[in-house]
Amino acid sequence: TMPLLIAPSLLSADFARLGEEVAAIEQAGADWLHLDVMDGHFVPNISFGPAVIAALRPHTKLPFDVHLMIEPVDPYLEAFAKAGADHITVHAEAGPHLHRSLQAIRALGVKAGVSLCPATPPEMLSQVLDMVDLILVMSVNPGFGGQKFLSSQTHKIRTLRQMINDSGYPIKLAVDGGIDAETAPQAVAAGADVLIAGSAVYGKTDRAAAIRALRTAGAA
Ligand code: DX5
Ligand code: ZN
Repeated sequence: TMPLLIAPSLLSADFARLGEEVAAIEQAGADWLHLDVMDGHFVPNISFGPAVIAALRPHTKLPFDVHLMIEPVDPYLEAFAKAGADHITVHAEAGPHLHRSLQAIRALGVKAGVSLCPATPPEMLSQVLDMVDLILVMSVNPGFGGQKFLSSQTHKIRTLRQMINDSGYPIKLAVDGGIDAETAPQAVAAGADVLIAGSAVYGKTDRAAAIRALRTAGAA
């Protein structure tokens, strides 16, 4: 079966010690580092941008999984690629030209991801499956860490898993928001192969144990 990847979200790290927090999570056994970029416009919160990501790049070899919650997105794609993003995920709701954004991301030599907010149906992606490397299902409304997992999203995860399998493309399926050892089994049973977790990993003192707990829960 598919290997389960764990991607801790830096949003719940200590922002006064970001370099150390990034290095520590690699040591703790993370597969990717998830970086939440928020603009105070597409979502009601502001986090960090390309300069911070570029500064963190030398601190780890982990793939940088950059989740852009910004609008507009196209003018900033090159800056995030240059900052060291390995994957750039944009929101399907962030504008009418998702196709163009995905084309632009791949043209920069970066893996292309697309995310869906809880209210957005999976069918929104039916015309772009050949252009994406990663689909990220939001299981909370984007903007903040520490929110409760929306079980209503498991049906969407199942539908997307079916769409991916039918397409034949090697698309990863990630779930983001409210993932912990209690909710991880629901996400994995529905077909997720990447678990993104902020508070359930960076919010814990023993991050290695927290990552192991997610892997164990996902395998159960
Ligand atoms: C929310 C972000 C998430 C967030 C997850 O807008 O996209 O990545 O950091 O945090 P938890 O795991 O605490 O829900
Ligand atoms: Zn995220």
